[in-house]
Amino acid sequence: MRSVDDLLAEGVSGRRVLLRADLNVPLDLSTRSPVISDDGRITASLPTLQALRDAGARVIVAAHLGRPKGAPDPQFSLAPVAARLSELLGVPVALAADVAGEDATAKAGALGDGDVLLLENVRFEAAETSKDDAARGELADRLAALADVYVDDAFGAVHRKHASVFDVAERLPHYAGRLVARELEVLTRLTADPERPYVVVLGGSKVSDKLAVIEALLPKVDRLLIGGGMCFTFLAAQDHGVGSSLLEADQVDTCRRLLTEAGDKIVLPVDVVCADRFAADAEVSVTPADAVPDDLMGLDVGPLTVDLFTADLADARTVFWNGPMGVFELAPFQAGTRGVAEAVGTVDGLSVVGGGDSAAAVRQLGLDEASYGHISTGGGASLEYLEGRELPGLAVLAD
Ligand code: 3PG
Repeated sequence: MRSVDDLLAEGVSGRRVLLRADLNVPLDLSTRSPVISDDGRITASLPTLQALRDAGARVIVAAHLGRPKGAPDPQFSLAPVAARLSELLGVPVALAADVAGEDATAKAGALGDGDVLLLENVRFEAAETSKDDAARGELADRLAALADVYVDDAFGAVHRKHASVFDVAERLPHYAGRLVARELEVLTRLTADPERPYVVVLGGSKVSDKLAVIEALLPKVDRLLIGGGMCFTFLAAQDHGVGSSLLEADQVDTCRRLLTEAGDKIVLPVDVVCADRFAADAEVSVTPADAVPDDLMGLDVGPLTVDLFTADLADARTVFWNGPMGVFELAPFQAGTRGVAEAVGTVDGLSVVGGGDSAAAVRQLGLDEASYGHISTGGGASLEYLEGRELPGLAVLAD
């Protein structure tokens, strides 16, 4: 796989570079103009972008935001991202009015050396995410026509077979960006002979999203700690009442089989923070995990569980954590995520925060980002990598 540093060595001054970045940041839409609530993905994209600018490339950035329905939709415009990018780079960043149409073509053609253009949300084109190769190919042709070379730095999107991630790389000389290279280096350390004990912490709401990675990881890890909404399907698989907590009844049998196969590798919560409703001002109580009352729902792991998980992490030399332990966005239910995040941060070895909500939690809870070995920008992508699946956006860069 050639890297952007190979491209820099070739010389990129005056060349037009299509840079796919993952700038899919959370937006707070409750204010008059949308506010970016976590710009971690934008800052993570800067090293490659800045290196290309410094070398005199004319950079055309392609990115997606949210999941618009294949047509322009102002609430998913990349305008706030262009503004933030411009602030961080200290130079104007123009935003094209379209993805790869007349305006993008005109603005890309007018770029000077070191200039940056952001294309409008690639998902405003239905073809971006289409299953139809020809449809994606037509959009990829138009994207490729904007540039001379392609650099993929959108690690968070490499598991998507999308026009701007996959098809365009087949049409231009292609290189991996520095963020993609760094993410791969860390994931390789997690998969190839990790230092032991190797402990994985999984949370988040949907157990069905995590079963494949649990299956893949169980033979490789020493301990697998499970919290978040997904733990209730495992607790139900042990025949515990879970009240009105999140439950995926159709996955109970699978969880039961995994618990049997795992022996004592899987560690479940021993207590749970419960409430009668999903609200910051709900009445809160802590109950044993095997006795959640019928009329209550578990919204966080309890303090004894934080102690248990902390003890299980204490001697770990390699840790991967993906998914919050509870509804950390609401103050009464954030202690579990905070406690486990702090324990992951004190690990003497490689600690990896696996993207998405867990990375957002680290920043929103004001934890020290520097205490982690790596904070991934790709939740779904890193999980699929650890499942052992081929990621289209990486496969296409390999040749
Ligand atoms: C992410 O947020 O995980 C990436 O940006 C990919 O977004 P997607 O799940 O909408 O494809």
